[in-house]
Amino acid sequence: MKKIAVLTSGGDAPGMNAAIRAVVRMGIHHNCEVYGVREGYAGLMSGNIQLMGPRDVGGILQLGGTVLGSARAPEFKTIEGRQQALGHLHKMGIEGLVVIGGNGSQTGASALDKMGFPTIGVASTIDNDLIGSDITIGVDTALNIALEAIDRLKVTASSHHRAFLVEVMGRDCGYLALMAGIAGGAEAIMVPEIDFPPEALVKRLHDSYARGKTNGIVVVAEGSRYTTEMLIDYCRHNDLGFEIRSTTIGHVQRGGAPGAFDRNLATRLGAAAAERLLRGEHGCVVGLIHSELATTPYEQVVGRTKGIDPELFRIAEIMAL
Ligand code: F6P
Repeated sequence: MKKIAVLTSGGDAPGMNAAIRAVVRMGIHHNCEVYGVREGYAGLMSGNIQLMGPRDVGGILQLGGTVLGSARAPEFKTIEGRQQALGHLHKMGIEGLVVIGGNGSQTGASALDKMGFPTIGVASTIDNDLIGSDITIGVDTALNIALEAIDRLKVTASSHHRAFLVEVMGRDCGYLALMAGIAGGAEAIMVPEIDFPPEALVKRLHDSYARGKTNGIVVVAEGSRYTTEMLIDYCRHNDLGFEIRSTTIGHVQRGGAPGAFDRNLATRLGAAAAERLLRGEHGCVVGLIHSELATTPYEQVVGRTKGIDPELFRIAEIMAL
């Protein structure tokens, strides 16, 4: 291959820029032209594609977000949208594409690959629900941002003998909530994967109060079976001992500057994706499995999610004693 392209798609994740930089510089190292697609699949469909040089990716390693821009592009789910995108790639003589993103993005990449255009994925989403990498780009940074907020809330909660519901991101997956809850010393963690009814939450908080705790942190995943609004309403109508408040961290988690772990992970995955694509490997996602670089075929990735480890949930409960 002499010309490849790279795009970022779906929700941005801290470290995406490091991955873009790695793809561009590794491609150039192998005497290949590397093109950047703006705004994800939307830019692929409209032909918003530009040649990138090593200096175009200078100074971006430490930046959150994605300098290429990202989008959720429902039109790309149609055959017409995909054919339009392929038309631009063929016209420009581009022979392969690196897709940096999560589940939806890798579904799009897989569709292009099936249509005969070689693509390779880089596992990137703060949700950590993508099969193909034990940890995906952005998770570590997002987790640390959530944790900083939880630590701060714990301080003010203790001063006032309050419980706090802290909503973190994770539409379909409770990984962020679970890990932030363990690291932040939560009383309870509400995730989509495990049923923990509001009555059990009230009992847990009431018991903690009775055991002399001065605060009660409850981490609620965005996609939890019970919304934060519903939970706070339920808690207000029951005796917890604690007063109750809620905070939603939301997108604050996604916009942070990537930490060392995410910069290094993204650099490794981006570099590996570019080299493998140039070697002729495609139809797979590049990730880190058991601390080693690994590729997983799209068939094992698309339409599935990783889930969380129930053992970690058990440990979190015991640690709340
Ligand atoms: O997939 C990453 C993620 O941050 C989810 O945790 C969240 O549910 C979703 O994206 C939010 O999407 P948007 O930024 O489009 O509102």
